[in-house]
Amino acid sequence: MKTLVVPIDPLNIDVGKIDEAAATIKRGGLVAFPTETVYGLGADALNAEAVAGIFSAKKRPLDDPLIVHISQKSDLSRLTVQVPEKAVRLIEKFWPGPLTVVLKKTSLVPDIVTTGLNTVAVRMPSGAIALRLIDAAQTPIAAPSANLFGRPSPTLAEHVISDMEGRLDMVIDGGAPEIGIESTVVAFRGDEVVVLRPGGTTIEQIQEVTGSAVLCSENSPSIECPGKYPQHYSPNARVVLVGPGRGQAAKVMELAENFKKAGHRPGIMCVEEHAGAFPGQDTKILGSAEDAELCASRLFSIFREFDGEGYDIIIAEGIPEQGLGLAVMNRIRKAAGPA
Ligand code: TXA
Ligand code: MG
Repeated sequence: MKTLVVPIDPLNIDVGKIDEAAATIKRGGLVAFPTETVYGLGADALNAEAVAGIFSAKKRPLDDPLIVHISQKSDLSRLTVQVPEKAVRLIEKFWPGPLTVVLKKTSLVPDIVTTGLNTVAVRMPSGAIALRLIDAAQTPIAAPSANLFGRPSPTLAEHVISDMEGRLDMVIDGGAPEIGIESTVVAFRGDEVVVLRPGGTTIEQIQEVTGSAVLCSENSPSIECPGKYPQHYSPNARVVLVGPGRGQAAKVMELAENFKKAGHRPGIMCVEEHAGAFPGQDTKILGSAEDAELCASRLFSIFREFDGEGYDIIIAEGIPEQGLGLAVMNRIRKAAGPA
């Protein structure tokens, strides 16, 4: 299938083009579109056959459930039941925005969307193009990130094309998302709020609304933890993380020298504070270690830039795990794979 690239200016949305994309969704097609987090690969969430197309286009395992995107808070009641009070408070505060809630599903949601789970992940994005598209399609849109399974999430239409050309009907090119890292996924266990995946809404913000929230650890027993696949968000290059703290730059420099001696071509993804610390090495600046928002917005693009330039190892400097720094570090760790 030929993939159509349709540019839409998020500040001056062309309704005709949105309608064309919505028609593609309605007839069971696949449309990649920008949200405020990353590009999603969308299909009509209520059309099981269309949703099956998402899994095959992405080569996604059939046991990794999708997020359903809605354009109005009131649509949640069609998809979910037994919404706990803390979920209501979070939705009130953070929707539209980068927060996904996992709730008990209704029978309207096809099993393939949730890969057979009795819960469904739902979010109302704030990206203007995403909201208009869902509205025009008049159906909830199931959309994982629009990358091939295991690859870094796309933050530009060209990333979608480079992974998925010919595997979907249309890509809406709406430029770079505001946030650049995926939504935070939360579930509710008894009275507890569990963050299954840190993302664009920080755990500190969630705690402020709900009193407490815990990060899902890989060994929490009774709850589905995303990222059960140990390696994820990975560029082709091997990623090696060096955490923040004393001696970080010296450690990075030593690794780079050693990799070169062993015949590799390492690139360093460094924090701005260390921009001058690696003479003779190839570096790309993630952002200031103090500016987790900027780091989040640049991370996936930098992974793909290193790949495009043929590096086989990325030595990544970590940043403090506060605010969006938690999500940034989560993605770098997942990209690095099991230690
Ligand atoms: O920002 C985002 O969330 C982007 C944009 C496109 O909205 N979407 C995204 O989707 O990142 P995806 O499929 O790449 O990640 C969805 C995550 C997966 O890790 C999946 O395991 C988890 O949400 N998830 C979905 N349904 C779930 C459920 N019922 N229970 C637990 N986890 C669930
Ligand atoms: Mg993904």
